[in-house]
Formats: sequence, structure tokens, C-alpha cells
Amino acid sequence: MIRFEHVGLSYPAPGRQPPASVLRDLSFAVPEGAFRWLLGPSGAGKTSLLRLMYLAARPTEGSLTLLGTEIARAGRRQLPGLRRRIGVVFQDFRLLPHLSAFDNVALPLRIGGRPEGQIRADVAEMLRWVGLAGKLESPPETLSGGEQQRVAIARAVITRPRLLLADEPTGNLDEAQAERLMRLLHELVRLGTTVVVATHNEALVARHAAPALRLDHGRLVTHG
Ligand SMILES: Nc1ncnc2c1ncn2[C@@H]1O[C@H](COP(=O)(O)OP(=O)(O)OP(=O)(O)O)[C@@H](O)[C@H]1O
Ligand SMILES: [Mg+2]
Repeated sequence: MIRFEHVGLSYPAPGRQPPASVLRDLSFAVPEGAFRWLLGPSGAGKTSLLRLMYLAARPTEGSLTLLGTEIARAGRRQLPGLRRRIGVVFQDFRLLPHLSAFDNVALPLRIGGRPEGQIRADVAEMLRWVGLAGKLESPPETLSGGEQQRVAIARAVITRPRLLLADEPTGNLDEAQAERLMRLLHELVRLGTTVVVATHNEALVARHAAPALRLDHGRLVTHG
């Protein structure tokens, strides 16, 4: 499902400085339908690793296989199809400001050509599930941080992706909401979705024991 082989990632540095290496020599696999925590201190490279997994960045070294496709060998035309099967909860939400909560969540279904009648029911039910039934028409700027984060979660899971990547998805949630999110993630795993969750929330990790990918200074210090 996900296979990293000696993957490295460098970002171009300003001026004439050499490129900054943020991920080094990562080799691991995550089987289909598995759950993995992605842990490590701030700056360790968690978001960078997720960017590789949602195809926002390409490895500068090594090889990466996602959903059965080796990324370096994939043609440009294959990538959009691959991306559509990946749901992402961004650390900074990235909701579209001119769309309501409902329309933000509906967008990936509309892009996928789903009939509008079905979209109405699915989106309303998902937003009810995350506790936002009363906020369907609200634009993001009128929502609290935790409410925006729950819209971002709803948008990521509404398409039932094969792979769900969540970057600090409980950063703005209270404990009850975080537990509710974990129930949703466990349910997705039960239905066969592969889930990777980057977090600093040690209490949550302690309550939900699962294998972890742990990064430190861009290197993997434990996996499995
Ligand atoms: N676009 C970029 N260009 C250059 N350097 C970057 C870029 N994005 C991230 N970095 C650097 O890569 C390193 C890892 O950053 P990353 O965002 O992956 O860490 P993180 O583990 O997600 O941290 P946090 O827990 O704070 O979210 C940091 O040193 C950061 O400064
Ligand atoms: Mg991060």
C-alpha cells in the first residue's frame, strides 16, 4: 500500500546554500488497511513525510510506492487519479474561504461527478456526525478553530479515500471531539482505509495504542 525505499527529501535553500535535507534514508512499509501514528518533535519532518504521501512533493532520493504505483515511474496523467483516492486533513485546514462549510465538504464529491441529491444527504450526515449540523451554511471565517478542523476532517473522509492522511487533526479539538474522531478513524480502518495520523497529542496516542512511525531530525527512529 505504502512503501518507502531509502527515500530522502531536500528543500531548495535560499541563495547559494546547499539544499536543506529534511528527510533521510527512510525505508518502511504500511500495509493496506493499517493504522499508523506519525510521531516526533516539531520540525522532525512529519508534515514533509505526509507531503510525499499526498504527492505534494517528490522524493529527491529513493523510491516511493503508493496504492500500487511507483511514483517516479508514474506518468503525469496517473497522478490526479491517484490523488483522488487520498484524503488529507491539513495541519492548517485549507478550507476555501468563499464556500460554506457544506460546500467545502461537498466539493470533492462534486468534482467526482456525484449526483447532487446524493451529495446533499451524505454531506449533511457527515457534518451532523462531526457536530456541525447547525453550521452548514457558515463560511469558514465565522467558525472556531475546532469547527474549521472538523469541516476539514469531514471533507477528507467524505469520498471514502483508500488512504487517509491527517496532520495534527486534533490540534484544535477538545478531548471528547478527539475521541469521536478516533472512532471515525477506527471505522474507516475497519472498512479497509489505510490511515496515517501525525500528532503531538501523547495522551491520545496513549489511549489508542497502535504502531508508530517515529521521526527525529528527518530520520526514522522506530517503525512498526
Ligand atoms: N517548504 C520548505 N522549504 C524549506 N524547508 C522546509 C519547508 N517545509 C519544511 N521545511 C523544513 O523541514 C523541516 C521539517 O518540517 P516539517 O514541517 O515536516 O516538520 P513537522 O514534524 O511537521 O513539525 P511540526 O510538528 O511543527 O508540524 C523543518 O526544519 C522545516 O523548517
Ligand atoms: Mg507539521
